[in-house]
Amino acid sequence: MALNPELKIDEASLITSRLVKKHKSTSAETVDPAELKTRAAQLALVLDLAHQAFAREEPAGPIVDRLACRLHELRRDVAPDLWQELIPLAQQHRVADYLKQDPFTRWSFEKPRGYSGDATLLDIYYKHPSANEIVASSSELGRAIYAYTSEAASSVAGRERRDILAKTVDETAARVENAEVLAIACGHLREAELSTALARKQLKRWIGLDQDPVSVGTVNRDLAGTAVEAMDGSVRGLLRRAYPLGTFDLVYASGLYDYLPLPVGARLLQRAMELVKPGGEFLFANFSNEITTDGYMETFMDWPLILRSADDMWDIINAAVDRNQVDAEVYYGSNRNIVYGSIRRRGEQGAPA
Ligand SMILES: C[S@@+](CC[C@H](N)C(=O)[O-])C[C@H]1O[C@@H](n2cnc3c(N)ncnc32)[C@H](O)[C@@H]1O
Repeated sequence: MALNPELKIDEASLITSRLVKKHKSTSAETVDPAELKTRAAQLALVLDLAHQAFAREEPAGPIVDRLACRLHELRRDVAPDLWQELIPLAQQHRVADYLKQDPFTRWSFEKPRGYSGDATLLDIYYKHPSANEIVASSSELGRAIYAYTSEAASSVAGRERRDILAKTVDETAARVENAEVLAIACGHLREAELSTALARKQLKRWIGLDQDPVSVGTVNRDLAGTAVEAMDGSVRGLLRRAYPLGTFDLVYASGLYDYLPLPVGARLLQRAMELVKPGGEFLFANFSNEITTDGYMETFMDWPLILRSADDMWDIINAAVDRNQVDAEVYYGSNRNIVYGSIRRRGEQGAPA
């Protein structure tokens, strides 16, 4: 299926707030100044109440819970262009000084690696030991807020996603001897630590590809001596067939589609299917449009995501592959905060690609 060849792909990293915001705003909409004024006042009230509650040293969890809930409702109730105008107002409010004591919120907002959703941010909500110091060195209030943000439904779903990836790798290894696996945008590939197939040396190779050389270095250091090998590489390079990768029994992309507009996501899916052997699978995940932390993430974390429904996942699949040639399925994780798409190539396992 041909996709627009003129499609412009961003430089190495597609993770830019600008790109995600561009995807979200619909240029036909204009912001009504009167409505903006009303909504800004509504927002100010919500933020002032949270600030006062922090100043009174009320328990942090319920304050952030109430705040996140109100921000979700406000985001839901206003036009996307108007919401974009409200985001900087929230970010500049003095309540941010309290919220940024949370290591998760702070890391996301400050972006020490220069882009949103880096692998260390995931380590923070994975509660990975490598992030212990970042959490422990935060203030008491920061740790109390973290106790809430790290247990929010979207964080729980993110941890489940890591479990699902490890389970999918293990199932692949159970199905195919000497299985070959490719993780696109692998980050720190923390799912490898949960894989019994890797521990039992049942994999031939598990290649991780990421545009961030620091993450690639971390994977190669932490998983040295295993079947894992990380390499520098971008979605752009993949689309241009710049890497001699061979083919795989499982290719997956997690924590990536949330930044990809439909045409890029569909092209990546098409390209990924070329790397999948007959009988093999491509799995991709996306935060769903049912999450309720969206308003908090886009304001105080400055972490905009492209949220998708099951129908949106099907749109990507249908734009990329001929459904007569594959077996596809779309399903939600247990709390519906993440949606998964799985596309299996028909054919005999082990047949030539
Ligand atoms: C949220 S992390 C996901 C890590 C891991 N896959 C997981 O689910 O835990 C996002 C990763 O995508 C990588 N990334 C973003 N844009 C990319 C691109 N265009 N090409 C390759 N990697 C990219 C980032 O460097 C980062 O490590």
